[in-house]
Amino acid sequence: MTNFKIQLETADDAPALSQLSADAFGPGRFSRSAYRVREGVPPVLALSLTGWLAGRLVGGVRFTAIRIGDDEGAVLLGPLLVDPRVRGKGYGKALVSEGLVRARKEGFGLVLLVGDVPYYGRFGFAAVPPGQIVMPGPVDPARLLVAEITPGALEGVAGQIKAHAPSR
Ligand SMILES: CC(C)(COP(=O)(O)OP(=O)(O)OC[C@H]1O[C@@H](n2cnc3c(N)ncnc32)[C@H](O)[C@@H]1OP(=O)(O)O)[C@@H](O)C(=O)NCCC(=O)NCCS
Repeated sequence: MTNFKIQLETADDAPALSQLSADAFGPGRFSRSAYRVREGVPPVLALSLTGWLAGRLVGGVRFTAIRIGDDEGAVLLGPLLVDPRVRGKGYGKALVSEGLVRARKEGFGLVLLVGDVPYYGRFGFAAVPPGQIVMPGPVDPARLLVAEITPGALEGVAGQIKAHAPSR
């Protein structure tokens, strides 16, 4: 863990991140519901992080600003990627933890994602109450997860998820 460095993503990182994404999710990634939400909307730059080992990009995480119904205080986490050659060393956890700290500092109250509870539960993510928040495409409801980074932020928030250009 000592040599692992987290930095803000720059334009130069895009090819390496695209390659990690292609390796992890294959051609089917373009039809995933989370991908479709993010499509055409830039991620929040202050929350776009890359992970480095000895000058090599080995991971990254992005967050996209979303509207849930009329509420604009949320971000969608994803993709989270770690190079298969260095998985299981805590780099994924470090990227998510750092992203959540920064999301709170940027004033976001909620983080949504599509993923596995056994992995994301440790950060406080749990399944969205059935029907409260709706993705624009098909998603296994058990994998649509939310974490309140401001306590109580989920209360009264409901509706369809739609990405929007970040205002911060
Ligand atoms: C998910 C991913 C980012 C994890 O990265 P990582 O650096 O290996 O993760 P960490 O080292 O921080 O955590 C590893 C732990 O998570 C567990 N884990 C990894 N993926 C998991 C999953 N899908 N479900 C449950 N547990 C999982 C490992 O078993 C390990 O457990 P341990 O801490 O008890 O040993 C990486 O496997 C990856 O890039 N996968 C492909 C892309 C993907 O699925 N991204 C997430 C959805 S967007």
